Amino acid sequence: MDVDSLEQLKTESLQRIQQCADLTELQSVKTQFLGPKSTLIEQLKTLKSLTGSEKSERGKQLNAIKNALEDALAEKTYALHKQERLKRLGTPVDPTLPSPYPTAKPLHPLTQVRLHILSIFKRLGYVVQEGNEIETEWYCFDALNAAPDHPSRSEQDTFFLNNFCCDTTSKKGNEPFLLRTQTSTVQIRTLLKHQPPLKIISPGRVFRRDTDDAKHRFNFHQIEGLCVDKTTSVADLKGTLDYFIKEFFGTHFKTRLRPSFFPFTEPSFEVDIFAENLGKFHNTWIEVLGCGMVNPKVLTNCGLSADEWQGFAFGIGIERLAMLRLGIDDIRALYQNDERFLSQF
Ligand code: DAH
Repeated sequence: MDVDSLEQLKTESLQRIQQCADLTELQSVKTQFLGPKSTLIEQLKTLKSLTGSEKSERGKQLNAIKNALEDALAEKTYALHKQERLKRLGTPVDPTLPSPYPTAKPLHPLTQVRLHILSIFKRLGYVVQEGNEIETEWYCFDALNAAPDHPSRSEQDTFFLNNFCCDTTSKKGNEPFLLRTQTSTVQIRTLLKHQPPLKIISPGRVFRRDTDDAKHRFNFHQIEGLCVDKTTSVADLKGTLDYFIKEFFGTHFKTRLRPSFFPFTEPSFEVDIFAENLGKFHNTWIEVLGCGMVNPKVLTNCGLSADEWQGFAFGIGIERLAMLRLGIDDIRALYQNDERFLSQF
């Protein structure tokens, strides 16, 4: 092949590269002009049979063409990629323009529900009291009057930590730390630190060795409420929780107390609400939370006289109320951070 024919090949190849309309076409042009069977590569193979200055002269020419084609291909590939990207996006993107979407997303549904619950109780004069996620057996069980053989204490139900706590945070001396299984621990921390009368509300995370499924998670959120005064009665408890339910779900919701058992309250109740229409529930009673009058043993465990003080307590599962109110069937949906799910609330 003479020099002119080579020049012609170069011009023709460069032109074909420029004319390519998409990446698929560019790939076939590449094979045509630079593939193992292309004229240029065939010519490069003939270099073996040449010698001396002829070989180096010819080598230079052929490699210059090859480099020019490779550069043109790389440039065209970049341009076509960009073109395809823009086509996908519709219009060219100007990243300096302000976003057309509001940048502030709504709060996570669990946060919305937590804040809603707290706002209702704050209106009733309750003060928010934070607790500890890492606790000891004494705060989580003993002080709350849970018997030594209470099943919730077992390793199957509670996450015990390897560290043992020192005397300053433990009431029993050397005992293992654990992840609290209930926010009721805050009742104890509060009663040890603050003199009644008091009304506190304590939101927080709790942990249990449950296997995740539609209804359970190894960690979830509760809100503990505690009211201690001199003449607190079951009527106060009932009135408070009835007010709360009506504020949270709607004034047409009815409530009832059903006898139950918790070690730290006596008597203990479950609160049921009557829903004419709540998601998949129609004209039925639904259990929503636990409550009761503070067991005198809890008061004495905290150094208070049970003759002088009495109180009520309640424990609300935030996920439970969020699922009922927002019509969510699977607790896991609240933890997957799927924007398509979260943007509904
Ligand atoms: N701590 C209980 C639980 O996790 C919930 C509870 C029930 C809290 C009754 C209370 C109460 O304060 O009075 O299952």
